[in-house]
Formats: sequence, C-alpha cells, structure tokens
Amino acid sequence: MIIYFKYIVNAMNTGLEFYDLFAGVGGIRHGLEEAGFRAVFSNDIDANAAKTYNLNFSNPGLRPADIWKVDLDGSPECSLVAGGFPCQPFSIAGYRRGFEDERQGNLFFRILDVVDSRKPDAVLLENVKNLETHDHGRTFRVIKSSLEERGYRLKYKVLNALDFGLPQNRERIFIAAFRDRGSYEAFSFPEGRPLKATFRELLDSGVDEKYYYNGRPLYDHLKEYSISFDTVYQWRRVYLRENKKGVVPTLTANMGTGGHNVPIIRDEKGIRKLTPRECFRIQGFPDSFRLPKISDAALYHQAGNSVPVPVVEAVGRRLKIAVEHADGSLFESVHALDAYQY
Ligand SMILES: C[S@@+](CC[C@H](N)C(=O)[O-])C[C@H]1O[C@@H](n2cnc3c(N)ncnc32)[C@H](O)[C@@H]1O
Repeated sequence: MIIYFKYIVNAMNTGLEFYDLFAGVGGIRHGLEEAGFRAVFSNDIDANAAKTYNLNFSNPGLRPADIWKVDLDGSPECSLVAGGFPCQPFSIAGYRRGFEDERQGNLFFRILDVVDSRKPDAVLLENVKNLETHDHGRTFRVIKSSLEERGYRLKYKVLNALDFGLPQNRERIFIAAFRDRGSYEAFSFPEGRPLKATFRELLDSGVDEKYYYNGRPLYDHLKEYSISFDTVYQWRRVYLRENKKGVVPTLTANMGTGGHNVPIIRDEKGIRKLTPRECFRIQGFPDSFRLPKISDAALYHQAGNSVPVPVVEAVGRRLKIAVEHADGSLFESVHALDAYQY
C-alpha cells in the first residue's frame, strides 16, 4: 500500500527541473522532457542553434551566450544538470595546480561551477565514445575524480542509437552521476533492443532537385559504382565508402561543410544526399520539430552535433526514477526501472 502511494505521488510530480547546458538545438532537452523532466535553464553560444532551439522550446528559451559569461548566482534550483559538452584535453599540470587560464580553457570546469552552485541530485553528461581513452585516459580521470571529490558516484556506458530504434550507427558515452547512494545503486543504463527499422523508412519522397547529384560534377564518379537502394554511402575524396546495409553512419557536425560528406543514397529519382530534415529524423527528432530558414550547411551541422533523442529519453526515464528513489527504496526502483528498459 505504502509502495503504491509513493509511486502515485511520484507520478503526480510536474517534472524534475534540469539545466540544459551546451544545449545546441535541444536534443537533450527533447529527450529529457519526454522522460518527465522540465528545463529551467538553457545555454549555448551558437546563435544559429538558438534559432532552431527557440522555434521549438520556450520557458526558458535560449539567448546565445558564452557559458563563462553567464552569471550563475541568480539562476534557479535544479535536480539535474545535463549537457553534451565539447571534448577537450586537460593539461594535467594546469589542472593539479589550479591554473586559472587552464580552467577557463576547458568547458568541463564550467559544468563543475554549475554543479558547485546548484548542487543537483544528479549530473548527466554525453560525449564521444572515446572519451574514456581520450588523451591517454587523462580527460576521463579528471572528469571522474572532479565529480567524486564533490560527493558524486558515477556510472557510465557507451550506448548506440541503433539499439534505441534509430537506423544510425552512433555510439556515445553517457555518464550519470548521483549525490545520493540509493539513487546511484538504483540506477542502471537501459539495454535497448535489436533494431527493426531501416533508414529507408525515414526518407522523404518528392525531395527537391538540389539534393540530387544527377548531372553534377560528382555524378561522373558516383555512376562508376553500383549504388543500391538499401545502403548508405559516403564520398571520401577519391572513393565511395559503402556502409552497413540498412544503416546510416554516424552523422557528424562537419558533414555539411565539406560538400560531399553528407551521406548519399539512391531513390527512385536518382542519387542524392540526405536532406537536413532526414538527418534530424535519423537523430530521432519528430517531424513536428521545426527547422528555421537558415542554410542547409548550418542545419546539417546542428543535426550532426545533436544527440539521438530516444537514447536520452530512455536514459532520462531511468534517471528520473533513480532520483525519485533517493531514500534507497531499491526494490521498488528496480521494478520501476525495468518498465523502462528501452
Ligand atoms: C556537441 S554540441 C551539443 C549539442 C546538443 N547536445 C544538441 O542536442 O544539439 C556542443 C555544444 O557546445 C556549445 N558550446 C561550445 N562552446 C561553448 C561556450 N563557451 N559556451 C556555451 N556553449 C558552448 C556549441 O555551440 C555546441 O552547440
């Protein structure tokens, strides 16, 4: 009876508040809000990303600003600080000696400032898969020890978008840190499930001519290859790379800028690149997510920089339950978590 009462009370909560740091277009926000969190603070330096963010989210919206210049003193309370921050090497000497210029250079230290001022129940970080081995393991060691020094316990796991219903091979590390031991023990990352969809289900029909290579300079090279309908390709300077059948390779932030790095497919009308909308879809954004009228290069950049939304949502659901069970009611939490295995 007590168990049910607690569960109902938790379900009635309007959402745990979170900080959306390095927010980009709001991939983390979208996933966490689906999981039942509520953003109370958003920040990113990129004015173009803010255009996309503000078309889709408000209260708070995003006013582009360097996170170092944002005054943290007047900012609201929160349960969770979340962010997919840029991965940079730390100078260990600088870190140990607390050099101020070294601190300023590394954005992770600004996350720590936010953690110090807000003391959230949990921290959720997302980054490239190789964060753990980056700079011979130093980067990860600094992240881990800095959070541990502040009383947080960490769990981390590399998750692939493929296991969360998206036909994109995108592996990213997720780090969840908890101040409360009960939450830490209750939490585990979702396993995901085998993929059923292929990228073809996410393609548009009637795509604008400008995305097709037919008659363009690269076409002379492309037509030398037998390009199949069920595979995604990438032009690599002098050759065409073929990816695993049915699956899109990791979308990258620079894919719009090099010209030919946007994944290439064949459809009924010819050979073309993916459109920005298709790239957002392949990151798990619904079609109701609005895209502003900015250059395709900027939209490709934003899609490639973002996170796979269903992965964040799955992690967020389990994180929320773990935070809500900070009293160590592990038995209930494990059952509640199982309901959100994916
Ligand atoms: C890997 S992206 C995160 C994207 C985001 N998770 C999303 O779903 O779109 C890193 C973000 O950090 C932002 N950034 C880099 N330096 C910054 C700074 N000094 N202050 C605020 N944001 C910064 C970039 O503009 C970029 O959007």
